[in-house]
Amino acid sequence: MTEITRLYDIQPIGPINFPILVDNNQVMVMSGETVLSVLTAIGLRTISENDNYQELGFYCAMGVCHSCHVQINDRYKRRACLTLVRPDMVVVTKVNRIKKEGLK
Ligand code: FES
Repeated sequence: MTEITRLYDIQPIGPINFPILVDNNQVMVMSGETVLSVLTAIGLRTISENDNYQELGFYCAMGVCHSCHVQINDRYKRRACLTLVRPDMVVVTKVNRIKKEGLK
């Protein structure tokens, strides 16, 4: 496991509170921010894969477009833009349940 540095925060963030895992890499986060803000801060632009195996970046950042689906704590299709970070959170990007479980 490596630690990823946040390089793309738009403005300085507050005190770092705890780490989460993103694609098996540790990222330090601040309580109150969304998973999507963490993903963009570390430079991830392509974060999900839809049911047609197309990779997507986020679009609306307010819960409408569903293009930010990631796996959070083993639950598929969690919207990263609406999910606040929590301690011990495990985020997996570009995961496709249909492909992963051989459902299609
Ligand atoms: S970015 Fe549109 S729902 Fe999350």
